Amino acid sequence: MKTIDYFKQRYENIIPDFEEFLAAIQKKNPVVLRPNKIKFSHLDFQKSFSKYENLDALQRLEFYLENYLLPEVKDFSLGGSLEHTLGHFYSQNLSSQLAVDCLNPQPGECVLDLCAAPGGKTVLIAEKMQNTGMIVANEIYRNRNIALKANLDRMGIVNCIVTSFNGIEFPGTRQFDKVLLDGPCSAEGTLRTVENPELPFKNDTEFRKGLIRTQQKLILKAYELLKEGGELLYSTCTYAPEENEQIVQYLLDNSQAKIIKAKLSSKNESIVNDVSNGLLHWGDQKFNENMNLTKRVYPHKINTGGFYIAKISK
Ligand SMILES: C[S@@+](CC[C@H](N)C(=O)[O-])C[C@H]1O[C@@H](n2cnc3c(N)ncnc32)[C@H](O)[C@@H]1O
Repeated sequence: MKTIDYFKQRYENIIPDFEEFLAAIQKKNPVVLRPNKIKFSHLDFQKSFSKYENLDALQRLEFYLENYLLPEVKDFSLGGSLEHTLGHFYSQNLSSQLAVDCLNPQPGECVLDLCAAPGGKTVLIAEKMQNTGMIVANEIYRNRNIALKANLDRMGIVNCIVTSFNGIEFPGTRQFDKVLLDGPCSAEGTLRTVENPELPFKNDTEFRKGLIRTQQKLILKAYELLKEGGELLYSTCTYAPEENEQIVQYLLDNSQAKIIKAKLSSKNESIVNDVSNGLLHWGDQKFNENMNLTKRVYPHKINTGGFYIAKISK
């Protein structure tokens, strides 16, 4: 099935300005770089790139979390650059950064990243905690932990330990100030028709059932692992309400959890208007009235991957 037809079939009624959405997903996702604050100032970062012909004038997206837009340049491999190996920067979707911004980790806290590989969000959590406190970065697949550990090393992160539990069975209870659950999902928000003209998964309800079961178990566990007064950030890179609002609703129905406003730090408040609210219904299903405090990021509003963010307190 064509990716574009799939989106038309499912989301025409829920995504605002749908024609603009369709136009946006037919373009490439921009590559952005965020200087590693643990190692670098902006000035040093700009200097380190100025030696590259055509890259000497990286456009700074001050508006969006102090990232730089990488121009399309032939014969330049970002991953192969010395600056990448030395951890001068991390290249990550803006929407992923918004999720960490909303989690708002603080220096000295104890934070769990339950599904962490390859570690993009873990790295930003560590930066925001100024390399203090403790992060537990967990990933079920040991082979994916290799990339996770390499990224933590490269970026100079020293406040993080890596574990390899099935998140559903993560040991203990009530021990973390904050938990990030950025778990497995259908990843629809990463699809751009230039790279994925065909839908990379089967469009049937069976496909989603397994994912949903895992997401339900993971969110219950993530909530259980929070201290009293702690905060959970649930995020996905999909538009599917079954994996977003419906999973949050499942948690509300099976715990004392409360939705709180998914708020961005003051630096990023200017983009609040570009972010849509969570859905109050999908098909026949009605969601909790506070579901509009959760957030949906669409690529035609912010030129980045599609994303969903919900913040929950215990
Ligand atoms: C969306 S990715 C996480 C991306 C990561 N947060 C980042 O920003 O780089 C989801 C991850 O969850 C892992 N995963 C899937 N099922 C899991 C489980 N039951 N327990 C822990 N991790 C799991 C996947 O292998 C995958 O690496």
